[in-house]
Amino acid sequence: MLGQINQIAVIGAGTMGIGICEVAAAHGHLVKLFDVDESAAKNALVMMSDRLDKRVLRGKIAAQEKIDLIEKIEVVNELEALADADLVIEAIVENLDIKRQLFHKLERICSSNTLLTSNTSSLSITAIAAHLKTPERLFGLHFFNPAPVMKLVEVVSGLLTDPKYIKMGQNLCQSWGKVPVVASSTPGFIVNRVARSFYGEPLKMMQEQLASPHFFDAVMTKVAGFKMGPFTLMDLIGIDVNYSVSQSVYQAMYNDPRFKPSLIQAEMVHAGTLGKKSGRGFYRYDLELPVAESLYEHACQAPEQISLPTNLGVLEPLFKGIEDSAVEVRLGDDIQIGNCLVLLTEGAKADDLQSYFSESGLSVALIDWSFDYELAEAVNLTFSSDVTVVDKQAVIGLFQLLGKSVLLSDDQPGMVVMRTLVMLINEAADAVFNGVCSASDVDLAMCHGVNYPKGLLAFADALGWEWVNDGLANLQGWFGDDRYRRSPYIQNKIQVKS
Ligand SMILES: NC(=O)c1ccc[n+]([C@@H]2O[C@H](COP(=O)([O-])OP(=O)(O)OC[C@H]3O[C@@H](n4cnc5c(N)ncnc54)[C@H](O)[C@@H]3O)[C@@H](O)[C@H]2O)c1
Repeated sequence: MLGQINQIAVIGAGTMGIGICEVAAAHGHLVKLFDVDESAAKNALVMMSDRLDKRVLRGKIAAQEKIDLIEKIEVVNELEALADADLVIEAIVENLDIKRQLFHKLERICSSNTLLTSNTSSLSITAIAAHLKTPERLFGLHFFNPAPVMKLVEVVSGLLTDPKYIKMGQNLCQSWGKVPVVASSTPGFIVNRVARSFYGEPLKMMQEQLASPHFFDAVMTKVAGFKMGPFTLMDLIGIDVNYSVSQSVYQAMYNDPRFKPSLIQAEMVHAGTLGKKSGRGFYRYDLELPVAESLYEHACQAPEQISLPTNLGVLEPLFKGIEDSAVEVRLGDDIQIGNCLVLLTEGAKADDLQSYFSESGLSVALIDWSFDYELAEAVNLTFSSDVTVVDKQAVIGLFQLLGKSVLLSDDQPGMVVMRTLVMLINEAADAVFNGVCSASDVDLAMCHGVNYPKGLLAFADALGWEWVNDGLANLQGWFGDDRYRRSPYIQNKIQVKS
């Protein structure tokens, strides 16, 4: 248990409040739980007890541990009973006026040493603390759902929060086995701001008629390495919930085009196709769900011979094992299979690159990005329109021989993973540039808050920031949309290198 923080008060016994109670009690704190709806708190405690019983049965925790944990939680029916709390965690309805009124009362009830925190996902911590006599002791403790499982906690500083309390919040979360990151009170904090592109860019690609949700999800999981595709995830979150967060961040960012919500989601909300909870969203849950494998290219013959440069850069893991295969490898300046040049995409169309190389008479195959080519089950490829059937099959056959399934995209400026990743990286970079958080915290936040396989900035460091810069520049050139403007953080990274 932490020095001065012993007694914890949790207000709101909903999804988040009861989870936070469990975390605090599991780490030895005495917890008082208050909800305006008395029965809500009691029922939540019964449900928690049932959940813990199941964990006992599965051997995850000892029976005594469960008893000790439950004994530490007391349901109280009056706000006044929270007077002796060292720290209050508010997890009530997401409404600024109601939260403000609550903290106003708490300021009167609790001691002047009590730390006041809010689990808000989208409201300004500064606004919640406004009009308090002591706004310096209020900060955000933004847990992720389910709170006992998810490691990330965003410790959010309001404009007037005293930094020493932020430090105490970090220490407390660490003592609870959490990964705390510090964010300033800005729209969406870290995760809900940066993650907007994970939905926004695939939705924009879908609106551009580039592919189906099924295809995007297959590419984002099997090629990129995300645990869940964006459309499956939106269906799980609820289209209405996801759309409303997108709208609130967009408005709070003064209509910055990077955060523009999607018309597709707006229509789905009108239609009531809200995702898994309504039986239909991007997918139909009354039908068998499609599997990625159904999109894979059929088996093709691998080429007898290819050219490879000595330095394959980030693509090296893709060609692992080539030396043990029957394919003859010749040394060349580029990756070449038959008359086809194979390149990592940097945002231009394969046809545009083919015109650039037209004197060589070579066609072009582009490879989409991946967090980890070694772990990737599949590669996503696109070809210039002049590619011969023989060369196309040879390229597909080569990757199949190397153990990867192959997905084929239409030729478009930027490919599925590349477009999504450059937008995510740009947002992560811009959050750091604008003082929302540190570079290490943005990477920790995305890995522990939304399970990204790698930190976005660490990925860009490994790939080379020029790729991110060129990718965004190509997209901005093609679409003429300010949405793709590069964060000065990226320009700085490139200048530092050159
Ligand atoms: N659900 C999530 O995934 C999630 C994740 C992170 C943060 N949050 C944030 O956590 C907070 C709670 O969300 P939730 O999903 O647990 O909500 P919920 O609707 O499940 O529970 C809210 C509870 O607060 C109670 N309540 C409402 N007004 C109250 C008041 N004035 N005083 C005391 N109790 C009151 C309600 O009776 C209800 O039991 C919100 O601010 C939300 O933005 C939610």
